[in-house]
Amino acid sequence: MLIKQKAKTLLNTFPPARVAKCIVDDSIQGLRLSLGQIDTNCGSTHSTRSTAESVAYIEEVFTDYKKYGNIEKFFGVAAEIGPGDNAGVALLMRQDGCTQVDLIDRYFSARNSQQQSKIYEALARRYELDRLHTKDYWDEQALANISWKIGQAAEKYFERCARERGQVYDFIVSRAVLEHLYDPLETLHQMVACLKPGGRMLHKIDFRDHGMFTPTHHELLFLQIPDFIYPLMVRNSGRPNRILVHRYRDVLESIKKSGLIDYSILITNLVNVGEILPHQVFTDIDIDKRRKAINFVEKHRRKLAGEFLHVDSQDLAIAGIFLIVTKKS
Ligand SMILES: C[S@@+](CC[C@H](N)C(=O)[O-])C[C@H]1O[C@@H](n2cnc3c(N)ncnc32)[C@H](O)[C@@H]1O
Repeated sequence: MLIKQKAKTLLNTFPPARVAKCIVDDSIQGLRLSLGQIDTNCGSTHSTRSTAESVAYIEEVFTDYKKYGNIEKFFGVAAEIGPGDNAGVALLMRQDGCTQVDLIDRYFSARNSQQQSKIYEALARRYELDRLHTKDYWDEQALANISWKIGQAAEKYFERCARERGQVYDFIVSRAVLEHLYDPLETLHQMVACLKPGGRMLHKIDFRDHGMFTPTHHELLFLQIPDFIYPLMVRNSGRPNRILVHRYRDVLESIKKSGLIDYSILITNLVNVGEILPHQVFTDIDIDKRRKAINFVEKHRRKLAGEFLHVDSQDLAIAGIFLIVTKKS
């Protein structure tokens, strides 16, 4: 027991031990994936929530899409990437006006089906969703025109979609997912190719370290891990990919230059400050908050890994964004 406790303390307090553990975990996860074992706890968002808390979370995700995406009503065909353990957001999108919602996930997030049924029942009571289950009880596999595409990484799904089906989606949405993709930037190109003219993408992306080193260490420590080591810690396990705002902006600018899209980036979180509510463009954020975040970056930036040394401090201060992309008609 004492040895276990000491090992845990070592892992928490000594970053190289944590790095080594992540590399081992990631290799094991890679092996499991190659054997087709895709179950995970990542995405089991509702496992620790009460039914009321789950409903509130689903409502928040859905409302954020509409509010920040400036969407009066959802319609047509939508894809939600990384829904995790629940299809509640898809149900609300269907009820709002979507004719079909595809749920694309690389993993199978562990879930308790009884708990899930209670969430669906509670949602159905609030939003009159009963027409959306095709059995006489709530079974997530029998939701009208909601298709789970489990075991399909977004990277591959949208590459194939662009190649074989073309412009099929009116909306592509995600929350707390793109930071887990191993190649979100190439996937942005493919998702744009899969959007219909006038179609919209809404992605909330969290750039933080997801508890890899925090709260024991400061929140930029994960950006210190050398560039050649970091991918070994994250690629198979879905840990955060460390692709920050400047890289999204570069890709989006190049797609915009080709005349395909318009886009905007709202800030959801700042380093050393926390959540920014309502989400807003950087220059609209209170100046003291911006200074506080940038000063924190300046204090730590000389130790960062090579790929971050020349990144603007303002970009490194951005710990989360809400991305809105519209494909031109
Ligand atoms: C943090 S969870 C978020 C779940 C849900 N969107 C929410 O807000 O609670 C991340 C989700 O992304 C999924 N995911 C990770 N990598 C992925 C990939 N490459 N393609 C598709 N889904 C992925 C995970 O399986 C998980 O369901």
